[in-house]
Amino acid sequence: MSLTPAFLDELRARTSLSALIGRTTKLTKAGREHKGCCPFHNEKTPSFYVNDDKGFYHCFGCSAHGDAIRWMTDQRGLPFMDAVKELAQAAGMEVPALDKKSAERAEKAQSLHDVMAAAAEWFCTQLDGLEGSAARELLDRRGIKAETKRTFGFGFAPDARGKLRAALKQFGDAMLIEAGLLINVEGKEPYDRFRGRLMIPIRDQRGRVIAFGGRIIGDGEPKYLNSPDTPLFDKGRTLYNIDRALPAARKANRVFVVEGYMDAIALAQAGIGEVVAPLGTALTEHQLERLWRIADVPTLCFDGDNAGQKAAIRAAHRAMPMLAAGKSLKFVTLPEGQDPDDLIRAKGAGAFEALVRDATQLVDRLWAHELAAEPMTTPEERAGFRGRFAELAKAIADPVVRSEYQSEFRRRYDEQFAAPPRAPFQPRQPFVPRKPGQKWSPPPAPVTEDAKAFRAIGIDRVLAKAVLAGLIRHPVEIARHVEVLGSLRLADGALGRLFEAVVDVALEDQALDSGRLVTILAQSGFETVARDLLRADTMPYSFTQATGDETRAREDLDEAIAILVARPEVDAALADATSAMQARFTDEAFQRQVALVREQQALDLRLANLVQSNEDARAFDAEDD
Ligand code: UTP
Ligand code: MN
Repeated sequence: MSLTPAFLDELRARTSLSALIGRTTKLTKAGREHKGCCPFHNEKTPSFYVNDDKGFYHCFGCSAHGDAIRWMTDQRGLPFMDAVKELAQAAGMEVPALDKKSAERAEKAQSLHDVMAAAAEWFCTQLDGLEGSAARELLDRRGIKAETKRTFGFGFAPDARGKLRAALKQFGDAMLIEAGLLINVEGKEPYDRFRGRLMIPIRDQRGRVIAFGGRIIGDGEPKYLNSPDTPLFDKGRTLYNIDRALPAARKANRVFVVEGYMDAIALAQAGIGEVVAPLGTALTEHQLERLWRIADVPTLCFDGDNAGQKAAIRAAHRAMPMLAAGKSLKFVTLPEGQDPDDLIRAKGAGAFEALVRDATQLVDRLWAHELAAEPMTTPEERAGFRGRFAELAKAIADPVVRSEYQSEFRRRYDEQFAAPPRAPFQPRQPFVPRKPGQKWSPPPAPVTEDAKAFRAIGIDRVLAKAVLAGLIRHPVEIARHVEVLGSLRLADGALGRLFEAVVDVALEDQALDSGRLVTILAQSGFETVARDLLRADTMPYSFTQATGDETRAREDLDEAIAILVARPEVDAALADATSAMQARFTDEAFQRQVALVREQQALDLRLANLVQSNEDARAFDAEDD
């Protein structure tokens, strides 16, 4: 027998989260919740909330969140199974024994971890030894400080075929081969893989060494030699520096992706720790997914050369099917011939931050790329261009994001090529296409405080906005939804504040109409947003329209709220399932993950139905064509 989702559910249900957290973090009761100063980041005023009903904690400051198990793994640093065991013991539950195969697998992983830890230590010792002098000089030349050298665990592999093998012989050849440290060729003695290289340990999320990158000291090929895939190391699922980048990213609320190890290290040394790097390959879907769990809009910093820009576009295309409300990418293009490491060394962190301030949004990056790709002087060429964008948008799985992209592309196309708006008595202007590559600039939008608040929303932004619009249009419905709307406060600070304002106002005055609601909201500083939302008849939902079937609007609004509430829960559950699986792969954990992905998809489908089943939405689509 092994662990089942039902067992974990039972375990969560039997655990009092506030009591568990309260053991190490001071909590005070606040309504139905407990709150305190967040143990995941430094703060003086409490923004950390614990909700016992949901069995979930959340910090509005750094967005740390999770359930009891997640608390034990993230805060206490326990491996997943140990966390489960400790909680089960406290709850008086017996942990089912793992089946034999996964127990074996776990044991083996444990010893491979030991091998890697021993190798890392040995490489470090070599770097400080006699033979390590050339490698030490390389680090000096590259401006790596002693402290950085220690934190990133730099080491040195001597230029010999059997030194590591001899030093770690207690593990045995088979284990060293499996760990990727020895190369095994038929009919030969196994020999050291890394020879005469500066060694950079690659660590997993929990800081354990799972692989190495070895840089050649002088010139030669390959410049970097990496560990092969092993039971511990899957290149496409690993991000270099993830262990150090995670806490930094939480604090900074952003994450960067750079191309190389040394870029990540140089940025960290310069004080920008929220940086990861893929390992010499294009970003995989899996890596993108992980990045989106760290920040809503990860910034990719690729070299300005051809290869770097190709990689950027490839990542952009790969991201399209996975886009979701609020989740996107930004792009920083380095000056040609410079990577972030060069830039930092030449001009310091300020120069990098300046590039970051100018980062390009995904939609702009795609637009600029296609615009520069082909000439656009004939109708046929322009048709081709439109076709490519139609394809790009079609790749987006999320129906709401897809429709946003479709109309955005249409709008840009019209700006770029179409005649000026048909105003009466205006002379028609000659057709002048913008030059390829010339930057498209969106019409200036006033940036108000509440607009900023909206942009910061982590949960389904578009849907949340629609629901809010629906509530403002139908204030009498608010009372029925107070409970769930209250729980949304947990999900996001900025959105929560606006919801809160709406709910408070509506509860005070049950016979409220939209006009009066907006007036009152205006007094709390939400004027622009509230008015815009009420004008938002462009949203494809029955409840955001000014006219239409009231019963229908009410039903759809119910459904939209249900989806809005369910979505972050499923996302969080999925993130949990995923980290559980990373802690220890079991078939059950895998199945749980799959089930949650299906649940997510079911929600997407319900949302799509809400849009498609709406007559007005169709009218809106047709109009925009
Ligand atoms: P780069 O060639 O841009 O190297 O490779 P770099 O990071 O600037 O290295 P330095 O500054 O010369 O030391 C970028 C990344 O691609 C992978 C490595 O992860 C490297 O950091 N790579 C590169 C390899 O895996 N193998 C190679 O032979 C070269
Ligand atoms: Mn470099």
